[in-house]
Amino acid sequence: MTDEKMKNSDFYKFFVEELKDLYWAENALLKDLPKMESAATSKELAESFSKHAEETRQHINRLEKIFEHLGEKAEGVKCEAMEGILKEGKSIIEDTTKDTMTRDAGLVLAAQKVEHYEIATYGTLKVFAAHMGQKEVEMLLAETLDNEKATNGTLTGLAERFINKQAVSE
Ligand SMILES: [Fe+2]
Ligand SMILES: [Fe+2]
Repeated sequence: MTDEKMKNSDFYKFFVEELKDLYWAENALLKDLPKMESAATSKELAESFSKHAEETRQHINRLEKIFEHLGEKAEGVKCEAMEGILKEGKSIIEDTTKDTMTRDAGLVLAAQKVEHYEIATYGTLKVFAAHMGQKEVEMLLAETLDNEKATNGTLTGLAERFINKQAVSE
């Protein structure tokens, strides 16, 4: 398929729309991560949020590289799903007490919903890119996908190592 034919296809246009949705989602998350960090009880969870904020900046950079590579404008289109997940995160903070491990257990839940949403999105868009023969784009999406999976694993590790145990005995 020629580049021009590809760019005129509905599939490609849909793909770009989804990239814009994801770009909005990553930026919204970057804005909320410091709030999650300061709401956390344990130093470990707070640090994992601060680390993921740095990584989220890289995710945003990679998306910008992808837009540039495709010759598309890097712009966000509101992602209703991420907005909802982040809103739920805020209500989890309101529903739990400061300085408790129940707060951290809730924050892990909220953060894992974010990561799973990102894993689903990056996973699918990576496959879309591969089907369009967009190797460079596929590689950039794969890098972020791996990082989202690792982050999800870190959260599981924290919950299993001490957060849930301490929460249940509060
Ligand atoms: Fe991300
Ligand atoms: Fe993430």
